[in-house]
Amino acid sequence: MVSVAIDGPAGAGKSTLARRLAAEMGYIYVDTGAMFRTIGLYALRKGVDPKDNAAVNTLLPEIGLRVDCIDGEQHIYLNGEDVSTAIRTEAAGMAASAVGANPAVRAFLLELQRSMAKKQDVLMDGRDIGTVVLPDATVKIFLTASPEARATRRWKEYQAKGIDTPYEEVLADVKQRDYQDTHRAAAPLKQAEDAVLLDTSELDFEQSLDAMKQIIAKKIG
Ligand code: DC
Repeated sequence: MVSVAIDGPAGAGKSTLARRLAAEMGYIYVDTGAMFRTIGLYALRKGVDPKDNAAVNTLLPEIGLRVDCIDGEQHIYLNGEDVSTAIRTEAAGMAASAVGANPAVRAFLLELQRSMAKKQDVLMDGRDIGTVVLPDATVKIFLTASPEARATRRWKEYQAKGIDTPYEEVLADVKQRDYQDTHRAAAPLKQAEDAVLLDTSELDFEQSLDAMKQIIAKKIG
């Protein structure tokens, strides 16, 4: 099986780029952030602080998580409910970042992530795919951009969806999430030694896509 691991901070464009690349390459796109978001969402719905590891751990046995690919789109189900849209809020993102620091949550999701890469060719994005989940991935890309460039992109996405969040708030969230994701003890966000670094601060979508294709082509032809 061929696997492409794409890691990087929030808002670097991983999911948009990975989704398009997967469609072009005929691979399955696996968005691991959605899995952490789903657990974060469940904690929020249950009134549990996502940072409270012990409390979140008691919820894990109640969580049935299923991932399906429908028309090339990943859908994620929480106890049978399609939460693919519900997890796309800033609050669910912050909750995901908090539960991502919980080793039991990471262990809970690891098998699901690995099993998906065993069955099919995948493009998997996240924070620790090249370092922990798929250390033998065929291609590893570390995708990054400046906090300002990432916040601007996020802010535009929110505007397009009609969500009115001040830019300063989005930037502060980006920085806080970077801090949480890089400073946690469990599988922190960091570039794998054998990953190719791609900084997209100055690149538009098509340029970023081309750069990724070149990196992939060098490894798998
Ligand atoms: O990629 P995203 O913004 O949907 O991810 C949300 C949060 O989930 C992110 O801030 C950290 C956590 N996460 C993680 O810890 N490990 C992953 N492989 C993917 C996401």
